[in-house]
Amino acid sequence: MSTQDLFGAQAPDGAGADKLAQEVAQLHQQLHAWAHQYYVLDQPSVPDAEYDRAFQRLQAIEEAHPELRSADSPTQRVGGAPLPVFASVRHAVPMLSIRTETDITEEGARAFDGRVRRELGLAESDAAITYVCELKFDGLAMNLRYEHGVLVQAATRGDGENGEDVTQNIRTIKQIPLRIGAPTLGTDVFSLPPEGERFALGRPGGETVPPVPAVLEVRGEVYMRRADFEAMNEKQREKGEKSFVNPRNAAAGAVRQLDSSIAAQRPLSFFAYGLGEVTPAADGGPAFATHFDMLQTLKAWGFPVAAQVTRAQGAAELIAFHQKIGAARDQLPYDIDGVVYKVDSLALQRQLGFLSREPRWAVAHKYPAQEQITRVEGIDVQVGRTGKLTPVARLAPVFVGGVTVTNATLHNLFELRRKKVRVGDQAIVRRAGDVIPEVVGVVVAERPQYVPNFRMPRQCPICGSTVVREKGEMNHRCSGGLFCGAQRKQAILHFAQRRAVEVEGLGEKLVDQLVETNVIRTLPDLYKLGLTALSALDRMADKSAKNVLAALEKSKQTTLPRFLYGLGIRHIGEATAKDLARHFGTLDAIMDASVEQLLEVNDVGPIVAQALRTFFDQAHNREVVQQLRACGVTWEEGAPAAQAPKPLAGKTFVLTGTFPTLSREQAKETLEAAGAKVAGSVSKKTDYVVAGAEAGSKLSKAQELGVAVLDEAQMLALLAAA
Ligand code: IVH
Repeated sequence: MSTQDLFGAQAPDGAGADKLAQEVAQLHQQLHAWAHQYYVLDQPSVPDAEYDRAFQRLQAIEEAHPELRSADSPTQRVGGAPLPVFASVRHAVPMLSIRTETDITEEGARAFDGRVRRELGLAESDAAITYVCELKFDGLAMNLRYEHGVLVQAATRGDGENGEDVTQNIRTIKQIPLRIGAPTLGTDVFSLPPEGERFALGRPGGETVPPVPAVLEVRGEVYMRRADFEAMNEKQREKGEKSFVNPRNAAAGAVRQLDSSIAAQRPLSFFAYGLGEVTPAADGGPAFATHFDMLQTLKAWGFPVAAQVTRAQGAAELIAFHQKIGAARDQLPYDIDGVVYKVDSLALQRQLGFLSREPRWAVAHKYPAQEQITRVEGIDVQVGRTGKLTPVARLAPVFVGGVTVTNATLHNLFELRRKKVRVGDQAIVRRAGDVIPEVVGVVVAERPQYVPNFRMPRQCPICGSTVVREKGEMNHRCSGGLFCGAQRKQAILHFAQRRAVEVEGLGEKLVDQLVETNVIRTLPDLYKLGLTALSALDRMADKSAKNVLAALEKSKQTTLPRFLYGLGIRHIGEATAKDLARHFGTLDAIMDASVEQLLEVNDVGPIVAQALRTFFDQAHNREVVQQLRACGVTWEEGAPAAQAPKPLAGKTFVLTGTFPTLSREQAKETLEAAGAKVAGSVSKKTDYVVAGAEAGSKLSKAQELGVAVLDEAQMLALLAAA
């Protein structure tokens, strides 16, 4: 639909008037329903852009025909009704909304500047207007009330007049000062633009920070950073619990948590962008002349203010800001849905005033939506590097978050089921920042007919191995391990790493090439590599090819724990591999051990035991082991359950610096063989720090905590005496 169609206002006469009234009624009903699902049920049913389109259509009709604007119109409310479970707060100064510029091209900025100039009666020859450009954060508006510098209340916007008292939950946000007074600088350490683009921090004009007024209401946005959101959702998915649709939804849910200890676990952040009630200047309050100075002062009082905030002269600079932020949007650590322009001079703001409930001096200029609706054409299954099977929706191409998306992850079978996704559905697709696109839900009402539910394949689509899902796990996995092409690269890198058999110089780029050209299909192929095959690869000089071959040769002489760890069996880390080797002595004994026998090993529980069994029950995994041995990979096998004395059992060591004779690995192995634990960082529980040349902070930490410090010779002496 073109903007023309949307906003072309017809004359309301006769049938036309009836039709328009009917449309208004429909829009009311639709918008109310969507808003209820969104704000009250926390379950958005349409993408924001859809809501915005309908809202703007209603606004346009009402502007052209004020007689059609009723008091209960959705345009007359600025948010959702407050939830009855929180105490209601009457805002001392109403919390308003800002108008969204309908044209998202750069013309939007020009249109706003044009309106402001017209309202102020300026001629074309008059000077450009100074604006402040801000980011439009995608979170929820919050009013923070400070009395005598102490945070006494935090309230949501609610319907603009009355909000919800969410003070307890807001107090858990570390970025929000609980007390202001002693001047501190703003703390937007996360999103600083490059040096030189920053405006001076803190005090306007280098003057001292104004004293904090007796009553100060700071307004801003509570939001969730993308990485925090992703991590939180990942945890929810692992637990098989409901994940959140987007960071804003998650933030809104956290703010309205009834249990503030749960809210405290939700990682929320805050940016300040305005004021509510403030002690008047006549009574000792601050006298700001501009919005920009006000923001600087908020920063100096300790509130996070986005580093991108900047002044702009006239439409051209607004456009430049819109473009610059648009280009950087994906790299920001949080979602924005646009930018906001505000007239800088507070005197001009007063002169411009308000139109219905929106200030004439501010406008939101949006970017392409990060959520869109499109059709699910199919559901594929992808196999990841660890064997995880991920259902992926194949989509009718859709432009979302600035790119065309044709695939979106459904995460796992349970997420897919919870979201009720079926082939043919209209799905809401979200793509924000560099995060991979995902399906956040479907418009269930629009399902064309009965469609069977999606099922996970029983065999890996890549290699045909059995697909398994462990008890309590949300993810399905291919049990093919080394046999599965999708897992091969990762498996080879894992096998070749320093802590496994160590093949020096066998890096990611080389492995990619080897696997993609099918030179290597299974691990043993590594040891069948010849100079010709290697030198034929891209950017592989003769000399480096020889080096790789030498490194491969060297890696053949290894140890059982390194080999076992190198096989990349799920849940088998270095420590477990060592325990298993010590307990069973030989690889054959481990491969043939029953779950019960495996459970006898120190620190081996049911999950680890089952993982081992699953791995060695696949004939092709045994085949790989056998071939590796045939290629000459060897290790010294020991006696089963060699109960070697463990004189250092219970002692914790930390290693730092370079030792004169032992490598760090060797020192570690020697200590562990004597039963000691080798930890990565120094704490009060550390018994000894062994320090070599160029020891760093671990040494100073040890000295600070009074932990005994040894050099290599002293460590060896200790071992000998033990
Ligand atoms: S100013 C009178 N500035 O956008 C002006 N709002 O409808 C009041 N928002 O939900 C708002 N970033 O929470 C303003 N830099 C910004 C903003 C911003 C996000 C949100 C606000 C409200 C909506 C405005």
